[in-house]
Amino acid sequence: MLSKHCFGKKMLILSYFFLFLLINISVTEVLGVDKFSRDDFPPDFVFGSGTSAYQVEGAANEDGRGPSIWDSFSHSGKMHGANGDIACDQYHKYKDDVQLMVDTGLEAYRFSISWSRLIPNGRGRVNPKGLQYYNNLINELSRIQPHVTLHHSDFPQALEDKYGGWLSRKMVKDFTAYADVCFRNFGDRVLHWTTMNEANVFTIGSYNGGYLPPGHCSSPFGINCTRGNSSTEPYLATHHILLAHASAARLYKEKYQDQQHGFIGINLFAFWLHPLTNKTKDVIATQRAKDFLIGWYADPLVYGDYPDVMKKNVGSRLPAFTNLESNLVKGSFDFLGLNYYAMLYIKDDSSKLNMEVRDFDADMAIDLSAIQNDTSVNEIPTTPWALQELLEYFKQAYGNPPIYIHENGQRTRRNSSLEDEPRVNYLHGHIGALLDALRNGSNTRGYFQWAFLDVLELLDGYESSFGLYYIDLDDPDLKRQPKLSAHWYSHFLKTKGVSSDGFIKLEKNLTAFSHAHFSR
Ligand code: NOJ
Repeated sequence: MLSKHCFGKKMLILSYFFLFLLINISVTEVLGVDKFSRDDFPPDFVFGSGTSAYQVEGAANEDGRGPSIWDSFSHSGKMHGANGDIACDQYHKYKDDVQLMVDTGLEAYRFSISWSRLIPNGRGRVNPKGLQYYNNLINELSRIQPHVTLHHSDFPQALEDKYGGWLSRKMVKDFTAYADVCFRNFGDRVLHWTTMNEANVFTIGSYNGGYLPPGHCSSPFGINCTRGNSSTEPYLATHHILLAHASAARLYKEKYQDQQHGFIGINLFAFWLHPLTNKTKDVIATQRAKDFLIGWYADPLVYGDYPDVMKKNVGSRLPAFTNLESNLVKGSFDFLGLNYYAMLYIKDDSSKLNMEVRDFDADMAIDLSAIQNDTSVNEIPTTPWALQELLEYFKQAYGNPPIYIHENGQRTRRNSSLEDEPRVNYLHGHIGALLDALRNGSNTRGYFQWAFLDVLELLDGYESSFGLYYIDLDDPDLKRQPKLSAHWYSHFLKTKGVSSDGFIKLEKNLTAFSHAHFSR
């Protein structure tokens, strides 16, 4: 005879069994051809989520942090009146945030170090409290992998004031010294280093269009230009960034890699580009746009020089590599990080090459009108096949280097619903496309959803959001509230051998359970 206790236990097991069956039935009902699970990816493939220092930390004026170019930019009212003074307050909430990452099932967290929190003047004295903060955060992250970016649009304002930041070659030395501080202090626990986030978009937005900090541009090319030169500065800044990246990478490889066993790379923003028509001129323009937007960095990194079409169109405004520089830059990465969100259709506009004074866009000679229309906080069209094409392009054009998808995610209005199905569909589609790309031989090693939280957004301030977790800015505690996408991603990461596809329907029945589990 069964004892009462034993009977109760059996019933409990049975009811779990039925719940399990129910879950599987619901999942099976909605399986599509695109079903996949975490187990379909290699075990050492890493799934994570990301943020960056200025977008998430807050505590902008605390514990000796110096201002960065992003503080100055936002406080001049250029980000819809928003700034990162408080942001998500991760500086004070990092322990809870890391616990939430662990609970969500993240295998890695991609974040950036604020150079001006660590070295307030950009060079010289290290701020002990900055050092302490990143040591604490990295220690807390011992349960998941920290992937660290050194420069995410926020170098110290002191260096902009002193010598014009990336427009000066002096940045190479200062950036390398800053990287040295990071490798020395954190490299025993950090195995993945990215020197620059979106190096290409940073230079286009910051030195051509003027819509990203430090906001340089010249009329008639940018928006409200007060200083800068859109014809020369993007190219000069890029040259110095490539040299700084290569110099930091060489330092890491020569001084640290043997003992620390880590990896170093650089991150680029990568649209997939497709001709608007099959006319030859649009097809040629598409390759030209790839060379300008991706090859500008990827060609020197892989082959040691800028693409020919850039040399031709930009002429003497494009800095030339010396042999020494070319050898330093060529091969100076263990991986490339790509931020992929969307695809663009490319239309030729070679007439721009007749302009007497040209900026980066005119040198690229494509018709930007279709692209420029989409500057709102609208959802991003979901075209997962384009991610596959992009990875195939890196395979063919650049010898299939190790790649991390460092950012991928869907934009929604900030205070819209927690039931963010568009984000779930976007993530599901792109993770599925990534699996297809891997099966076709892509050397991709990891995927980071952007963003872990609803952070301060680069272009939209607090009007749009990409987060798995919503934060009500009027809530004094800035409590993190899970969206449907947090549940979906968590389910995908934690559930072995079950397709992620049916989870949207399933989740609706489990909302009460999940909300109780996640609300903190
Ligand atoms: C690009 C940037 O790296 C990040 O800072 C930004 O918030 C997202 N992508 C979304 O726009």
